[in-house]
Amino acid sequence: MDNTEHRLLIIVGSVRDARFGPVVASWVAEQAAAHGGFEVDVVDLAEIDIPLALPAASPKYAGDDYPRPAGMAALTSALEGADAFIVVTPEYNHSYPASLKAAIDWHFTQWTAKPVAFVSYGGAAGGRHAVLHLENVLTELHAVTVRDGLAFPNYFTAWQDGRPLDAAAPGYAKTLLDQLSWWAGALRAAREAAPYPA
Ligand SMILES: Cc1cc2nc3c(=O)[nH]c(=O)nc-3n(C[C@H](O)[C@H](O)[C@H](O)COP(=O)(O)O)c2cc1C
Repeated sequence: MDNTEHRLLIIVGSVRDARFGPVVASWVAEQAAAHGGFEVDVVDLAEIDIPLALPAASPKYAGDDYPRPAGMAALTSALEGADAFIVVTPEYNHSYPASLKAAIDWHFTQWTAKPVAFVSYGGAAGGRHAVLHLENVLTELHAVTVRDGLAFPNYFTAWQDGRPLDAAAPGYAKTLLDQLSWWAGALRAAREAAPYPA
């Protein structure tokens, strides 16, 4: 990996039975691999042990000693090693799924001074409420959210055979990935130059 290639982690945020999330994530991973600027990894929250009950201390201060379940180790090390994230999220009741909030809350420094982009889907709003909430939450963890995202309203008619029907979608994905790559390089250089003053 040279300094123009960044470690990208795509997070599948929904965990419910018969979910659509993996279909979207798989297409996003394909776009990211074709972009050429990333080493792409995908983590599916349905495969991770993410209890709702947190330990007494905050992960913000606990560092490596934070007592996470063994079944969360793959998620923690994937977050730790990533230079950039794409969160793939549906919209549940005008927000994002509880699985995603729990995964975020079990971590802190793993998000700090790193860029996050969003690909959302849902009913009429296409997950926009979910993304607005995520932008707010991730700012608290000192992550940098990327302006251009992809939103797929009424995904049940907008996708066919694992792909969006909108021919413009790969172009929007490229814009998102270009912005994410720029931020990943800028923030990795900044993290290497000096510790972030969180
Ligand atoms: C509990 C629940 C609440 C939902 N609320 C919304 C909503 O507020 N806005 C929306 O556009 N779609 C909503 N939907 C539709 C989902 O976005 C849609 O079912 C989507 O496929 C869910 O993602 P998933 O299949 O990956 O779980 C809701 C679905 C569920 C299960």
